[in-house]
Amino acid sequence: MLIDTYGRVATDLRVSLTDRCNLRCTYCMPEEGLQWLAKPDLLSDDEIVRLIGIAVTRLGITEVRFTGGEPLLRPGIVGIVERVAALEPRPQMSLTTNGIGLKRTATALKAAGLDRVNVSLDTLRPDVFKALTRRDRHQDVIAGLEAARDAGLTPVKVNCVLMPGLNDDEAPDLLAWAVEHDYELRFIEQMPLDAQHGWKREGMVTAGDILASLRTRFALTEEGVDERGSAPAERWLVDGGPHRVGVIASVTRPFCAACDRTRLTADGQIRNCLFATEETDLRNALRSDAPDEEIARIWRLAMWGKKAGSGLDDPSFLQPARPMSSIGG
Ligand code: GTP
Ligand code: 5AD
Ligand code: SF4
Repeated sequence: MLIDTYGRVATDLRVSLTDRCNLRCTYCMPEEGLQWLAKPDLLSDDEIVRLIGIAVTRLGITEVRFTGGEPLLRPGIVGIVERVAALEPRPQMSLTTNGIGLKRTATALKAAGLDRVNVSLDTLRPDVFKALTRRDRHQDVIAGLEAARDAGLTPVKVNCVLMPGLNDDEAPDLLAWAVEHDYELRFIEQMPLDAQHGWKREGMVTAGDILASLRTRFALTEEGVDERGSAPAERWLVDGGPHRVGVIASVTRPFCAACDRTRLTADGQIRNCLFATEETDLRNALRSDAPDEEIARIWRLAMWGKKAGSGLDDPSFLQPARPMSSIGG
């Protein structure tokens, strides 16, 4: 079991498969990209599957989410999913992607055992998409979403970050579109995890702003606490249901007390929090032939030291050195 000193138990593992991405979202990375991790530093497919196996058989992990950068850029992803699906006990498996590669991969991912996907889409306007991601791929994301739904990777969730003056007027249109196409839309408050360190609290669209904007067109009724569990998203029924909309308010309504996550980076580091400033290396143990139990011991110790919260409200808050695209969200 992965338990910390506050009694929280991690059952959800987020695995970053690559730090690279084929978009350049302005709130994430600069136009020229970042200094990518070097190939020898990346875990191999075998190493990733071995670590997930240890997490599932010895550490109580029941859910695995693949992230990036953009995880579909990892050539071996379908094989990794297939091998994780064969583990006993088999974990739930999901993927967070920008959607571009889904048209090509959705059917194979489903056949390999992937349960569902979350796709990032911040706007319905191709010109705004191009300004925001610095790539003209809006249509590819829409096609990817449809492919995921048709392949049964459901419920398909859509993640949306709103930014003042860019797309913050789109919330009701996005919700109408999501309801029409049977996607579960979640709005995410922007967090200080951008590579450029440009985040400002004043420049952030808050959960309060988003709900006020949605309520100009929809009736929202809050879902019970029991249904939320440890999920980051608070959810509302739209016009009485059955469709829902979520808000992930990491900044204005932190949910750290219910956190059930542990993270593995593409270069084999354990992060006990999205906002952790320290990491625990597993790659070295892997590559020096440590037995499974030794790796499990290091992982338990890494989680034991998890802080109470993100520290976002502390005057001494320090943004982690590793940016969002390399942590995996
Ligand atoms: P579901 O299980 O489908 O609800 O996934 P999820 O929302 O946990 O994962 P996803 O990868 O879609 O992430 C959506 C947003 O939630 C991203 O901005 C993540 O950075 C954020 N998020 C995920 N886990 C955490 C967390 O532990 N803490 C905080 N503050 N944000 C998180
Ligand atoms: N704050 C909040 N969400 C972010 N994402 C990327 N960068 C940030 C940030 N700084 C979103 C992506 C994706 C999800 C994994 O996280 O848009 O949907
Ligand atoms: Fe790529 Fe996601 Fe960063 Fe956009 S937010 S550049 S899709 S990693």
